[in-house]
Amino acid sequence: MPKIIPVSTFDCVVFGATGDLTLRKLLPALYYRFRDGQIPGDSRIIAAARSALSDDDYCERATQALHEHVAREDLDPEVANRFCSRLSYVRLDAADPKADWSGLAHLLDPARVRVFYLATSPDLYGPICRNIGTKGLVTDNSRVVLEKPIGHDLASAREINDSVGRVFDEAQTFRIDHYLGKETVQNLLALRFANSIFERLWNADVIDHVQITVAETVGVEQRGGYYDHAGALRDMVQNHILQLMCLIAMEPPLSLDADRVRDEKLKVLRALRPIEPHEIGTLTVRGQYGPGAVESQPVPGYVADLDGPESSATETFVALKAEVRTWRWANVPFYLRTGKRLPRKVSEIVIQYRALPFSIFPAEAAEWQPNRLIIRLQPEEGMRLAMMTKDPGPGGLRLSPTALDIRFEKTFGMRFPDAYERLLMDIVRGNPTLFMRRDEVEAAWAWVEPLLQAWAGRPDHPRLYPAGSWGPTAAIALIERDGRTWLEDAG
Ligand code: BG6
Repeated sequence: MPKIIPVSTFDCVVFGATGDLTLRKLLPALYYRFRDGQIPGDSRIIAAARSALSDDDYCERATQALHEHVAREDLDPEVANRFCSRLSYVRLDAADPKADWSGLAHLLDPARVRVFYLATSPDLYGPICRNIGTKGLVTDNSRVVLEKPIGHDLASAREINDSVGRVFDEAQTFRIDHYLGKETVQNLLALRFANSIFERLWNADVIDHVQITVAETVGVEQRGGYYDHAGALRDMVQNHILQLMCLIAMEPPLSLDADRVRDEKLKVLRALRPIEPHEIGTLTVRGQYGPGAVESQPVPGYVADLDGPESSATETFVALKAEVRTWRWANVPFYLRTGKRLPRKVSEIVIQYRALPFSIFPAEAAEWQPNRLIIRLQPEEGMRLAMMTKDPGPGGLRLSPTALDIRFEKTFGMRFPDAYERLLMDIVRGNPTLFMRRDEVEAAWAWVEPLLQAWAGRPDHPRLYPAGSWGPTAAIALIERDGRTWLEDAG
């Protein structure tokens, strides 16, 4: 296992400490880093929420969360006890200007790195930051962490960024997009900029098109209240998918310095061709899952999952054709697609190369497949380069597609840390490279917002697709109209 460099001792205040994100993601991620010795033993996690709980009650909830979300073989009861001894609970309505913050203030050590993690709904970011500021809790060594989505549209994102910015500098503000913490996503930087062969194969001369698919088998689960106001475009495309696209499409940054990387990502977002209202019907598809079966289990439709309204116009599936207007990418479409209740959980980027200009092989020698570089974010993180090779043996000249295949887990033989583990440590270290800068978030909203408005102005409902299918047939038509196909099983 590579040597782990501990971070500085810190106090991490988590607002929204009884919520799903904290229990499912943050505490398990902190546990793993603590177990591996990266978190100094005297660091503290101060859980803040409105419920009346004692330290012991919270510790009990945290332990239960670790049992549910940490792999059984990784959960050491002795380490879990020591981890819980680093937790304190403070009852606090952090958005209320009249609340008494003295209990929390009292626990903070001015000499330490101080992290304020806002695991709350985005409309509370402004009020909570204002209170942190007026209570005088911001030190030079403080950072604030904001979860996506930042706002609901461009105006609300700006408003949140303004209110947070009145208390924290941009350099202290860490906007999380957990996709940027995934190992394979970081590997995109290594693939492109630590290898000399790909740069020459990374442009419109050789690439036919790019596909990004983020497919989930889950439905909205317990998050219907949030999701029904968000929908797939806000929940997945505005952030995760556009960030992936930025890493694929950006120019080589001048260095790995956070702002140099983010400058290049921003240029991609600004180069996205706006989709005009008259193109909405051809360049975008929105869908909503109906009843069906996923992994052979019958599942209800989206509206039944919401358990409330009788109908909803929220999309749970989006497919889009996007274009990046730069020399590198002229006329190379980016097909983007995401949805809930699809047949498999898979996040994959496919770079498809152009077809052979001319073949010297007889037509019957092969079923031709263009070269494809497939970057698999999950599951089975890895990369494959699909290519044509000769079938062995003297039985006549036959060619078939095979692949150069790297499976990271097999290659490195170690557990792949969850994205939050890396991101939380980067926050403590004060390294914002894998976080979204304000201008990136706003540029992403500026591209997405006209789509939301155009959809809202249309009389048609998102197209229903059976749970367990690859979305509405219109999504297939979107790409097939261009003579291409989605590659569910690429390579
Ligand atoms: C979150 C979305 O940001 O990402 C969820 O809000 C989605 O709706 C999740 O399920 C997917 O993350 P992952 O890491 O499981 O691909």
